[in-house]
Amino acid sequence: MPPKNNRIIILDTTLRDGEQTPGVNLNLSEKLEIAKQLEALGVDIIEAGFPASSPGDFEAVRAVSQNVGCAVAAFCRCVGDDIQKGWQAVKYSKKPRLHVFIATSEIHMQYKLKMTKEEVLKRAIDGIRLAKSLCEDVEFSCEDASRSSPEFLYQVLERAIDAGATTVNIPDTVGYAMPDEFGALIGGIAKNVPNIAKAVISVHCHDDLGLAAANTLSAIGNGARQIETTVNGIGERAGNCSVEEVVMAIETRAKYFNISHGIDTTKIYRASKRVSKLTGVPISIYKSVVGRNAFAHESGIHQHGVMANPMTYEIMTPQSVGKTESTMVLGKLSGRHAFVDRLEAMGYSLSQDEIDNAFARFKDLADKKKNITDSDLDAIAGSIANIPEYYTLDNFQIQSGNKMHAMASVVLLHKNEKFMEAAIGDGPIDAAYNAIARIVGGEWPLKSYEIDAVTEGMDALGEVIVRILHDGELHIGRGISTDVIDASIRAYVNAINRAMAKLARKD
Ligand code: KIV
Ligand code: ZN
Repeated sequence: MPPKNNRIIILDTTLRDGEQTPGVNLNLSEKLEIAKQLEALGVDIIEAGFPASSPGDFEAVRAVSQNVGCAVAAFCRCVGDDIQKGWQAVKYSKKPRLHVFIATSEIHMQYKLKMTKEEVLKRAIDGIRLAKSLCEDVEFSCEDASRSSPEFLYQVLERAIDAGATTVNIPDTVGYAMPDEFGALIGGIAKNVPNIAKAVISVHCHDDLGLAAANTLSAIGNGARQIETTVNGIGERAGNCSVEEVVMAIETRAKYFNISHGIDTTKIYRASKRVSKLTGVPISIYKSVVGRNAFAHESGIHQHGVMANPMTYEIMTPQSVGKTESTMVLGKLSGRHAFVDRLEAMGYSLSQDEIDNAFARFKDLADKKKNITDSDLDAIAGSIANIPEYYTLDNFQIQSGNKMHAMASVVLLHKNEKFMEAAIGDGPIDAAYNAIARIVGGEWPLKSYEIDAVTEGMDALGEVIVRILHDGELHIGRGISTDVIDASIRAYVNAINRAMAKLARKD
């Protein structure tokens, strides 16, 4: 069967499958910011979360539905309560979608669901009917489709479409499929499901064998017209199909694919950086399209070729994905107006309080660093998240050496009062963290620590990302400064504030 039309629908699941990345724990304002980035990027549908999974997810789906103009999907099992909650959360959207799923592979049915094929079929149809009674736009997914019997899939999909599914999604849940095999599965569905013309075929590929983008593109060649992706490919295990990889493949090989999409590719780089910052998941320097090295040319031969004609070694330009640095450099004498103008041009829209906070940090940095570039501004604006500041750093002193225990004394502000503690540790950062934990009280063990220079030069800004464990959950914290110890302390305090905010929401 020939594909229905030449426009690919992109359902972005950064906020649902992407948020399932281990250690990622976004708060509401971060989810809203990602949703805004996705809308600006031009995705057709934002899958905003799994409302029945937690009150936080429910709130996020509701808030995203109320704040973006594109379609919003709520993810639900084929279970009455999930679907009702999904609808309560997503019904505020201008274009709501309910996305219901159940597994169809032998191994999932037997061991996970402990259900027969007939029971799975019935549960799927009941779920779709209920969803359809609430919402016109219903997507149905056969979890682990690539390891399901094609004949069973044809049967389930035909019944699903009859029950009201308008999109049928074929996930390669465990990233097991090979591109030609997955393409053939999609081609088989297009050919053997009699009522398939009434629905859009969608695919959802995981990257366990590094084939998510290849499988997605192969499916498009065989009739899929919706693809499910995440920014930077974040997601369970090895992640999901990266939106930037498939979109830039379709763009760069436009004649080969002859297919259109709604993505503004010049917004890719910004979305990628924001998602990385907000989730705390770093981007590999080798990552296609958005990695730091994706447009870097080291060898003399390559540099010479690129200077003669960029197309010798560049199949796409950095500008086409929005990787540009403004030549306008801000410094010590730049005023608030120029600062706000530059941030707006970079795509930030901060509240008055956030601007005050960011501007103060800008002035602070400008005292230490002559030229402030876009990367510095990104680091400053990106670290101004809407987190209640239960504790803030007032000052610290550290003593350390190669033949002594490090000693730190830290003063934190809490409800306008100063609290001071001193502690020793295995190094200056450990000592400072011990002092902070004494002030706050309770257990705040550090689970991971990463440091990165976000800008270049001797006076570069360093960014520290930490994850701490508290109340059985990982909480991320970020801090930036030209001083690594200062950045480390800010990151730890930020993580504690986030954990406390989460606990307050739970209460
Ligand atoms: O990977 C998967 O199968 C999913 C759903 C679409 C069921 O995330
Ligand atoms: Zn998935």
